[in-house]
Amino acid sequence: LYAKRFYHERVIDHYENPRNMGSLDKSDSTVGTGLVGAPACGDVMRLQIKVDDGGKIVDVKFKTFGCGSAIASSSYITERVRGMSLDDALKIRNTDIAKELCLPPVKLHCSMLAEDAIRSAIKDFRTKRGGDIIHGADAK
Ligand code: FES
Ligand code: FES
Repeated sequence: LYAKRFYHERVIDHYENPRNMGSLDKSDSTVGTGLVGAPACGDVMRLQIKVDDGGKIVDVKFKTFGCGSAIASSSYITERVRGMSLDDALKIRNTDIAKELCLPPVKLHCSMLAEDAIRSAIKDFRTKRGGDIIHGADAK
């Protein structure tokens, strides 16, 4: 397979069997939506989280219009943040994702998309809820 020369098998697996692809209801007050783009290539990722009263992520879905690494990064991050508190999810760095998926340096910006998307989804959720559920520092 041509792609196998460039992509690690963990990327291929998430790309061929993406986890948690889909949508959550944007108008639901327990749902935060992050929509981000990568300036380097124009790829777009949407990530949505559903948060319970304790500030824990109980569901997560994504849709990504982009390259294999971007799809793999989104699939990976949905698995990673499920069950996490918002504050812990904010600590995930794109370099962790890139390391986990063995992304080459040229594909680092693809994992950045996933970090941006989760931050943006958390920010949207917190903005929606106002002072309702704010645990710790705000999302940047
Ligand atoms: Fe756009 Fe990756 S460069 S798909
Ligand atoms: Fe642009 Fe992967 S997100 S090449």
